[in-house]
Amino acid sequence: MGILVTGGTGYIGSHTVVELLEIGEEVIIVDNLCNSSIDVLDKIEMITGKRPVFYEIDLLDKEKLEFVFKEHQIESVIHFAGLKAVGESVKIPLTYYENNITGTLNLCKIMEKYECRNLVFSSSATVYGMNNTAPFREDMPLSTTNPYGTTKLMIENILRDLYVANHDWHIVLLRYFNPIGAHESGLLGENPKGIPNNLLPYVMQVAIGKLECLSIYGDDYDTKDGTGVRDYIHVVDLAKGHISAVEYARKHEGAEAINLGTGNGYSVLEVVKAFEEASHKHVNYRIAPRRDGDIAICYADASKAKKLLNWEAQKTIDEMCMDSYRFIEKLANA
Ligand code: NAD
Ligand code: UFG
Repeated sequence: MGILVTGGTGYIGSHTVVELLEIGEEVIIVDNLCNSSIDVLDKIEMITGKRPVFYEIDLLDKEKLEFVFKEHQIESVIHFAGLKAVGESVKIPLTYYENNITGTLNLCKIMEKYECRNLVFSSSATVYGMNNTAPFREDMPLSTTNPYGTTKLMIENILRDLYVANHDWHIVLLRYFNPIGAHESGLLGENPKGIPNNLLPYVMQVAIGKLECLSIYGDDYDTKDGTGVRDYIHVVDLAKGHISAVEYARKHEGAEAINLGTGNGYSVLEVVKAFEEASHKHVNYRIAPRRDGDIAICYADASKAKKLLNWEAQKTIDEMCMDSYRFIEKLANA
């Protein structure tokens, strides 16, 4: 019996695979490598001493995906695979809808056929939209502002409908806040292709001199120092949240939405300062205009995860910055 991890060579997926292997789970990864590298498998093996089974398969290829279910007895699925760049999703919406929605439909149809109905899905805090006030609770009204976010909301709705139709499904919809950080070995982390869109990857590249200057998108928000506030969560804490979510899904029918965040908000300036202290590097920045679609403050009410999953984030913003720096430094010197 194994756990299928779609998108398992990606940033969050690879850290989750490490945690799964560490507790003795059998892991089967499916990933088309559109945003990750095969080398990740070596890194996972260096950390855990185990190599997960890997299939280079696109979720849009239903026949190949079904082959995996024929070959292995899949007991639960953690579904990370998806495209995730907000700006890109505005430019190529059809690609996002096809990849994220059709990929998920293919997966669920095959799961149904093979009577594998334990599913943990990667949703996002983006489904809370622009109109709620933090801390965000799972029962707040949902809305989205871009095609990427809409795919997440649509998939949540599809999975809720699936449960209504068949109460044998055990589904957990995990709404991630802002995952950052890296494995403490420095072997796994986030290294986006091209110029990073997200704060931490950008800061990391400025710190090692690959990029010149961080643009801080707005210092006139109604926040502690005028810059945007987010709930940054260490990727290893997030990965551990998936272990708890799989255990929960095994025991509970439903389609339960659960936030994975720390419940704390840090401003952009606070993150820059924490990173400078952790890395002993100076991070050049300038204040730039606000970025379209950004909200001022986004952080989780993390109490449902504590109650249902018995899970809480442990790592501090300093650890997140230290581990990120260790990873990028190692990569730069490789
Ligand atoms: P990532 O891009 O590093 O990982 C996603 C993986 O899925 C990649 O390895 C990619 O190659 C693979 N993939 C994409 N489409 C595929 C397809 N059709 N078939 C097979 N493989 C495919 O991203 P991540 O940061 O690890 O995010 C994982 C999930 O979490 C995504 O669904 C993302 O939307 C969600 N999420 C991420 C964040 C974040 O800030 N990182 C926040 C909220 C939600
Ligand atoms: N920021 C900058 N400069 C940059 C990048 C970001 O000032 O170069 C600021 C943003 O304005 C924001 C904060 O840093 O205030 C965080 O921005 P990110 O782009 O790192 O993260 P977001 O909160 O905008 O988005 C993330 C994920 C999305 C997800 C969303 C909601 O990237 O996929 O969280 O959970 F939808």
